[in-house]
Amino acid sequence: SLCYLNGEFGALRDMKVSVLDRGFLFGDGIYEVMPVYGRRIFRFDDHMARLARNLGKIRIPNPLSSADWLAASRRVIEAAAAEDQLLYLQVTRGVAPREHTMLPDLTPTVFMMTTPTRAATPEQRHQGVACITARDFRWERGDLKTTSLLGNVLARQMSADHGAVETILFRNGMLTEASSSNVWIASEGALLGSPKSEHVLEGIRYEVLRELCEEEGIAYNLRPLSEAEVRAADEVMLSSTSKEILPVTRIDGELVGHGAMRGKPGPVYARLYEAYQ
Ligand code: PDD
Repeated sequence: SLCYLNGEFGALRDMKVSVLDRGFLFGDGIYEVMPVYGRRIFRFDDHMARLARNLGKIRIPNPLSSADWLAASRRVIEAAAAEDQLLYLQVTRGVAPREHTMLPDLTPTVFMMTTPTRAATPEQRHQGVACITARDFRWERGDLKTTSLLGNVLARQMSADHGAVETILFRNGMLTEASSSNVWIASEGALLGSPKSEHVLEGIRYEVLRELCEEEGIAYNLRPLSEAEVRAADEVMLSSTSKEILPVTRIDGELVGHGAMRGKPGPVYARLYEAYQ
């Protein structure tokens, strides 16, 4: 499919980046993944704002204006076959002799591609998915949406090895997030999530879920959540660009929830999913 690299459009398999790119050598870059429905980007402005914030935090100048980002992404999206896509873009610090210091005046490498959406299956939505848990062994800057994803890759693979869809992470006994999703619990009808911090990526769905809760009359609260609270919750769910909202019905092999709803997607999930659609 068509992708974008440094101002040019070409076939994904033909585009090449220097081996001295700092993205390749250091994982020195920022990325975004945006959902595309019917060839229209969902929450483009929010994703752009996060990209700009993240680039600022690691001192890479934003290489394109919002209008230029949109124009380039539209071209890539139009060229793809699927109506529903995941738009991926990344900016790395650029090509330079290998040295840790951020050399001045580098030209950032800008890349954009799209893939067909990998939507959750009806079965996953109906039955919920399994997760495992682990200590959050990643670094202390989970707020950065950086292409340095080794910690997340190792965490995700732990769940893959167990046939589970995600690894829910706890730092000092408190919930942070999962390897590539944010984690939410429902307790007494309210939706609870981890506060924004340097240990958690500020998912664009934080704001989406806040708005949906408001529409639905569901209390929405961000506060530190203990491992015990997550395990004892009425409902647990994941959110991300690709997962939207996904119900978790097994954690470390134990069924989530209570009574008749034990091991089943719950009512808060059902309402939020409906509203999200
Ligand atoms: N993952 N936390 C982490 C560590 C993530 O990587 C992601 C997104 C999220 C959810 O953020 P959002 O709602 O903005 O998608 C939380 C993307 C999709 C990925 O790496 O593919």
